Amino acid sequence: MAQTPLAPQAIQSLDVFLNTLKVGVIVRTPGDFNAFSFEDDYRATGGSPILSLSFRAATGGLRKDPRPVSGALPAFFANLLPEDKLREAMEKHHAGAVRPGNDFDLLAALGADLPGAVRVLPSDGTTVTLQGNAEATPKARFSLAGVQMKLSVMKNTGKGGGLTLPLDDSQGQYIAKFPSTAFPGVSENEFANLALAAAIGMDVPERELVEKSDFDGIPEEFDTLSEGKVLLIRRFDREQEGARIHIEDFAQVFGVYPSRKYEGAAYHDIAAALNEAISPAAALEFVRRLVLAAITGNGDMHLKNWSLIYRGDGAAPTLAPIYDVLSTVPYIPADSMALSLGGERSFKALSVARWKAFANRSRLPEPAVMQAVVDTVMSVNEKWENLPERAVIPEAVLERIDAHVKAMTPILLSCSEK
Ligand SMILES: Nc1ncnc2c1ncn2[C@@H]1O[C@H](COP(=O)(O)OP(=O)(O)OP(=O)(O)O)[C@@H](O)[C@H]1O
Ligand SMILES: [Mg+2]
Repeated sequence: MAQTPLAPQAIQSLDVFLNTLKVGVIVRTPGDFNAFSFEDDYRATGGSPILSLSFRAATGGLRKDPRPVSGALPAFFANLLPEDKLREAMEKHHAGAVRPGNDFDLLAALGADLPGAVRVLPSDGTTVTLQGNAEATPKARFSLAGVQMKLSVMKNTGKGGGLTLPLDDSQGQYIAKFPSTAFPGVSENEFANLALAAAIGMDVPERELVEKSDFDGIPEEFDTLSEGKVLLIRRFDREQEGARIHIEDFAQVFGVYPSRKYEGAAYHDIAAALNEAISPAAALEFVRRLVLAAITGNGDMHLKNWSLIYRGDGAAPTLAPIYDVLSTVPYIPADSMALSLGGERSFKALSVARWKAFANRSRLPEPAVMQAVVDTVMSVNEKWENLPERAVIPEAVLERIDAHVKAMTPILLSCSEK
């Protein structure tokens, strides 16, 4: 039976899918309590494919449904939504249909295009309209986490090419991260850091620097007035044909709200989770990425900047490719690691004692961790100086990165002491 489309704020029940498999439902009750519960059929599978490790019981199978939450979504779903300025822009874009600060409304509006393979659609055949009372202009309805202004975009291969927002059922295969006036050369900085990660053998998505003039039809709410290049990154949660690959970040794995991404856990918690859920090799790859953050002066590797990816049948995670890596010390000289590493955050404190403490808390063998630290420092020193992508970084920013690499090298190499 055809039903009148409802605005997000009028919707009370949302079905949750992993690709096409219905796994549960989120219901809001009067008083704005939001409750998520799993489908019986999905429960009977023991929770495969996996929605989130946070829903798995230690004894295997799924935990009890999470408790209803007042005025917010359960943490797993809250983590699918944009944060801060990007959220404000999205709320403005959907003004009239979505109430500011209302997670359920926003999830109802953006649920067809979320990170990974989760889809959240109105229950009982209801459809959602995003038009509010405004004229019928097409609306952007993708959701990406993070605070920086960004869009999920498509590359048009036909005449004229160009980058556009996906409309109707099409999905963006790239993330476009726009520059910021607060951080000069931020796109170039991230572009070069990603190139460095690739040069030392890490798994890095394809990326390029493009111009703002390469984009067509970007609504003004999403425009940043700042000048400069835009970083375009291939999405690892979308296949060429648009199929979705499930991902979850470590705020989701630990059931922590986005507002606690800098404090909800420590690096050894991530390492221990990788060791247990994937393999010691995955945990050691994480160690290499931590060393990269420490040596490049990247103080922003919080819980949402690490993800698991569920390829194939979705029954087992692997470590997702690296993303959102840039040197923050050129902009914030007193910056430190985003989370605690062996009990310390300060970059300069990260000598052998901290890595040993980290190894022990992670339940990883000390020698393997020390070796990963030393190898990564050596690789970075070998590649960074002659990396072609260095050339795009503004001089003043590059000088500060170079000084940080130089200062950190002997500190980290204390891990080579026998
Ligand atoms: N290549 C990618 N493929 C798929 N998803 C990605 C990719 N890069 C980033 N993401 C997702 O998009 C989110 C936002 O991207 P990113 O972390 O680069 O943005 P940000 O705004 O700089 O974040 P922050 O708030 O940490 O500064 C990430 O948290 C991750 O979920
Ligand atoms: Mg991020």
